Amino acid sequence: MYFQPGEHKAAGLSFSPIKAIISPRPIGWISSRGEDGTFNLAPYSYFNAISESPPMVIFSSAPSESSQHKDTLRNVIETEEFVVNVVSSALGDAMNITSAGLSYGESEFAAANLEMADCKTVSVPRVATSPAALECKLWKIVELPKPDHVNGGVMIIGTITGIHIDDSVIKDGKVDVKAYQPLARLGYMDYGRISEVFTMQRPSKK
Ligand SMILES: Cc1cc2nc3c(=O)[nH]c(=O)nc-3n(C[C@H](O)[C@H](O)[C@H](O)COP(=O)(O)O)c2cc1C
Repeated sequence: MYFQPGEHKAAGLSFSPIKAIISPRPIGWISSRGEDGTFNLAPYSYFNAISESPPMVIFSSAPSESSQHKDTLRNVIETEEFVVNVVSSALGDAMNITSAGLSYGESEFAAANLEMADCKTVSVPRVATSPAALECKLWKIVELPKPDHVNGGVMIIGTITGIHIDDSVIKDGKVDVKAYQPLARLGYMDYGRISEVFTMQRPSKK
């Protein structure tokens, strides 16, 4: 099968398979604060780490049909800070609740009954029960092309300025991914859990 982007229906596929092809993907559960002091929390799976040194992450906010930015993007533009909270398998339902389109200023922390915890380098709260959280400062915003929407998508690039890890997921000085249990975003409405881990050594130099 071969087709060009946007032509999946003519190829016999009901939905665009791009998310399913590029899977599994991590979920950045982004908490943010507006300049009015309100807090926001929402999942973004167009999310990843892009650099180890300096440690940097990206996530991207899809275009909306209205001229309004999503609340997360609005907050990051206003305060230039955000936190990436990790969604453990146990927090999947709460994460899903926070993807609802609540009015600006209405807290998803309250809607999903999630406790907030303070951060050290940013004035944005983290999800207290997340197994890890990355405090981030905005580095750059990149506007993506606008094919057919009023707004284009926007890529947010941030630098990690603080790292929280729940001690219970550390074993022998490493993050134990089986205890950590990051939820993976697959295609469509599907998610995955880590059930098997194996190790491969890199080829040695001759
Ligand atoms: C697992 C998951 C991943 C998502 N990933 C993205 C994403 O990468 N980009 C995006 O714009 N919306 C994404 N969404 C949708 C947003 O979470 C949703 O539009 C939310 O209402 C945005 O909240 P906000 O306006 O408070 O920022 C995702 C939803 C779910 C459930």
